[in-house]
Amino acid sequence: ALISMRQLLDHAAEHGYGVPAFNVNNLEQMRAIMEAADKTDSPVIVQASAGARKYAGAPFLRHLILSAIEEWPHIPVVMHQDHGTSPGVCQRSIQLGFSSVMMDGSLGEDGKTPTDYEYNVDVTRRTVEMAHSCGVSVEGELGCLGSLETGQAGEEDGVGAEGTLDHSQMLTDPEEAADFVKQTQVDALAIAIGTSHGAYKFTRPPTGDILAIEQIKKIHARIPDTHLVMHGSSSVPQDWLQIINEHGGEIPETYGVPVEEIVEGIKHGVRKVNIDTDLRLASTGAIRRFLAENPAEFDPRKYLKESMKAMTELCIARYEAFGTAGNA
Ligand code: G3H
Ligand code: 13P
Ligand code: NA
Ligand code: ZN
Repeated sequence: ALISMRQLLDHAAEHGYGVPAFNVNNLEQMRAIMEAADKTDSPVIVQASAGARKYAGAPFLRHLILSAIEEWPHIPVVMHQDHGTSPGVCQRSIQLGFSSVMMDGSLGEDGKTPTDYEYNVDVTRRTVEMAHSCGVSVEGELGCLGSLETGQAGEEDGVGAEGTLDHSQMLTDPEEAADFVKQTQVDALAIAIGTSHGAYKFTRPPTGDILAIEQIKKIHARIPDTHLVMHGSSSVPQDWLQIINEHGGEIPETYGVPVEEIVEGIKHGVRKVNIDTDLRLASTGAIRRFLAENPAEFDPRKYLKESMKAMTELCIARYEAFGTAGNA
């Protein structure tokens, strides 16, 4: 059944678990997420980015998610729009039937220029007014995502600030978060705590204090009824990097957010954990390996099945680690 993000995350907060929010672009990802949720009895958040809407088309994405709800009616599903760049973009998603939208006013309409606080409050408040009158939840964002190690926002062409960020921009201020929530009434808030989008988060193996856990605790203490969201939460599995590179790939050394660190964040109020890159890596590794080992095969279903299996296993691991399993 289709449910709102508020409904799901209220339950998650009450029972102390986190929910991975997987990005969806195609059939294989959609089926992998649902099969993993079915196997582990987990509720689902699937999110469509601007890139996904451009790739698959908004109507296809919409029907992909609705098809999943039809095939697995017993699984609660949140249909979420990721990183909306204006109230208008969010409005179109609400009209399409999304049960949750993100208004990312931390960046301008170009998706890369950091904005001022008043702008962010204004666009987010307007989106909340519109969404709440339709029963749709809203996620806002305060602070700029960026790696505390590299000072970089992450993706070159994706979502993220341009250029190098200073340290203070990359940590959400707890007092400002309290004011932001009071003024906008958002259901969930994406916070900057040292993560960044994409595969290139950290150049060295994480030492165990890669996330600003103290910051999460302070923010949660100030806004206990607002669900905290962690973007850029891929763990960049080293085994998938190795499989990719052993079969013709050339991905340089890089590290993501360790699953244990995310679990620590969940203990302190993180409820929604955004993951896209890990599914891309698992999918690519599985396809590269299959094609290298089966050079005469040309039926896409054969290698896409491998991609689906790899993504299903990854989703199962996250549902289990975050405590989502058993809560559908
Ligand atoms: O927030 C970033 C997500 O990974 C979406 O990326 O716009 O390339 O689909 P995308
Ligand atoms: P990753 O690139 O770490 O998977 O983050 C995805 C994300 O935050 C989507 O909004
Ligand atoms: Na989002
Ligand atoms: Zn994001």
